[in-house]
Amino acid sequence: MTDPLRLGIAGLGTVGVGTVRIIRQKAKLLAARAGRPIQIIAVSARSRNKERGVNLSGYAWEDDPVTLAQRDDIDVFVELMGGSEGSAKDATEAAIAAGKDVVTANKALLAHHGHALALAAEEAGCAIRFEAAVAGGIPVIKALSEGLAGNEITRVMGVMNGTCNYILTRMQAEGLGYNALFEEAGKLGYLEADPNLDVGGIDAGHKLALLAAIAFGTQVDFDAVELEGIENITIEDIRHAADMGYRIKLLGVCQMTGRGLEQRMSPCLVPDNSPLGQLEGGTNMCVLEGDNVEQIVLRGPGAGMGPTASAVMADVMDIARGFRMPVFGQPAAGLVRAAPARAVTPAPYYLRLGLEDKPGALAKVTAVLGEAGVSINRMRQYRHVDSTAPVLIVTHKTTRAALDMALEAMSRLDVMIAEPVALRIESV
Ligand code: NAP
Ligand code: HSE
Repeated sequence: MTDPLRLGIAGLGTVGVGTVRIIRQKAKLLAARAGRPIQIIAVSARSRNKERGVNLSGYAWEDDPVTLAQRDDIDVFVELMGGSEGSAKDATEAAIAAGKDVVTANKALLAHHGHALALAAEEAGCAIRFEAAVAGGIPVIKALSEGLAGNEITRVMGVMNGTCNYILTRMQAEGLGYNALFEEAGKLGYLEADPNLDVGGIDAGHKLALLAAIAFGTQVDFDAVELEGIENITIEDIRHAADMGYRIKLLGVCQMTGRGLEQRMSPCLVPDNSPLGQLEGGTNMCVLEGDNVEQIVLRGPGAGMGPTASAVMADVMDIARGFRMPVFGQPAAGLVRAAPARAVTPAPYYLRLGLEDKPGALAKVTAVLGEAGVSINRMRQYRHVDSTAPVLIVTHKTTRAALDMALEAMSRLDVMIAEPVALRIESV
């Protein structure tokens, strides 16, 4: 057997402990598969004395992850701390400067600094691998950059935040409101330290930006992702969408258009019998479309100790086997800066309106839609509640611009009681 692959692991939380466990428990299997042992040399976390449920006594301890990253006796720096700035960024940069390969689960770091880090790493002859950063245990980075390397990618879509999918599917199943489920997700430990990263769509947006870079050969551009979270999704919308044959998902979509790169992460309606519509709980799903392969659907756990550590180990094993690849699937120096394009691809929309219960109210609304060129496909009015008529409309395909024009005109009508809700219906 050849020399061991020597790791320094910074971060001993959920993912770090999971990774240490796999390396300890499956040492023989990993060595057989890699053709060499995988060895942890040193570890780092904030608090040395915390009980972590795993034996760390055989490893050197470093208080400072930067010092860990620079150690002469490690080959790979495994960054499992998190955060786009501070220690994670400093230590990753230090590792690259010291000529170490890097494995990370940190989507925030790469979404904000991925291109600069990739340039630095490739200049230094180092790898940065990040399978665990997108969709937890699903090997979507490998599928996209290796399995589909012979395709021009036409579209990438997915549900990539388990917490949001958990909240939305529990709202549907239990008939509970958003706030109750947000609280429940917090109690179960699902929410990030800053919950807005989850429910604001930011975490999923980070993941989408990384997939877009690989899919379209572009520089990661998180700032260009059109973001909308799930905070304003009500139980009424969940119920009404279900009534019309849809489920609401926080859905990411990226595609290259003639106008530039569209990247959006927003609540959308999908058919309830589609694979995305059927996705329950914290599970993630990535849909990859290429000109030759047509469509691939990957489904699996998007978070958690075992699944995420499994993805970390996939990267460690590739490095141990000597498999090397540019960070985003093609040399970073050749990645182009895509013009960001607003999502203007026409789509059907779901509209929920609260109208005053008086003669001609509906006629005024339909007239406004007609004037904006928005055609109605289906419409349903529910029983009045406190003299408000809840009205649901599913439009034919229309542009967001035409719809916005109609919504703006509606806001000036004297029959609107509540702010209209407009959600895109995605064809999947
Ligand atoms: P976590 O449980 O909060 O653990 C973070 C670890 O990093 C802790 O051990 C912490 O030390 C250590 N740490 C934080 N700041 C540090 C610093 N300045 N110096 C040294 N150590 C520091 O986080 P996690 O859930 O394992 O997530 C780790 C990374 O994986 C993040 O980038 C996250 O986005 C990503 N990720 C997580 C999941 C998941 O399911 N959890 C899934 C996919 C990706 P202490 O323990 O001493 O506080
Ligand atoms: N907060 C993330 C989620 C963790 O809910 O999917 C995995 O990235």
